[in-house]
Amino acid sequence: MLLDRWLGAGAGATDDAPGAADSAAKSRTDQRIPAIEAIREEHRAIAAILSALSRILDGIEAGRLQPDVRLLAGMVEYIAEMPDKLHHPKEDRIFSLLRSKTSDLDGHLDVLEAQHHDSVPATSHLDRALVSYIQGGAEAFAGFRDAARAYIADEWVHLNTEEEHILPAAQRLFSAQEWQDINADFARNGDPWSGEGNRYADLFKRIAHQAPAPIGVGDGASG
Ligand SMILES: [Fe+2]
Ligand SMILES: [Fe+2]
Repeated sequence: MLLDRWLGAGAGATDDAPGAADSAAKSRTDQRIPAIEAIREEHRAIAAILSALSRILDGIEAGRLQPDVRLLAGMVEYIAEMPDKLHHPKEDRIFSLLRSKTSDLDGHLDVLEAQHHDSVPATSHLDRALVSYIQGGAEAFAGFRDAARAYIADEWVHLNTEEEHILPAAQRLFSAQEWQDINADFARNGDPWSGEGNRYADLFKRIAHQAPAPIGVGDGASG
């Protein structure tokens, strides 16, 4: 699949990526929980975009890459929409059930829920920074770069907190019946991270192909 191919090419190959936390969480139990797998798959997709964006910023800054406005706009669109529309609603359900099971994670949950709540203004800020860059040209790059880097840094912490603290606790504390109900609800919403009419999977595919090698999949195709 494209996501595996892209991550295999190195888009998500960073020590900060949530994939690093996967093995520890998975080793807690061999039980397969489709809802957790869906959330992890969405994290991998988000991580791939964030990592690619970070490398593109490095490339533009170093003069190795010419800015590709269409690619940057696609990435910001993905970051702004996919998590808010598809991903956070799933996690909010896990968060609220987890609060009923333990208060040990309240500190993490308070921060994560506030970040979900503020995700639209946060990504609007990024979107406005991109528009300023497109309008202002090279002189306005620093503003977009700083906004994007701040967003990416916050998002790594967010993803890793969920992978390291929240998903393992949910896996440990929720009953089989509770997981069955959550799995059924998530399955009703279709494939993880694809979106209605495959919208976000198609956008992801376009970004992966538009990103220059070795950041993207490198075949230069547009579909
Ligand atoms: Fe989240
Ligand atoms: Fe998440």
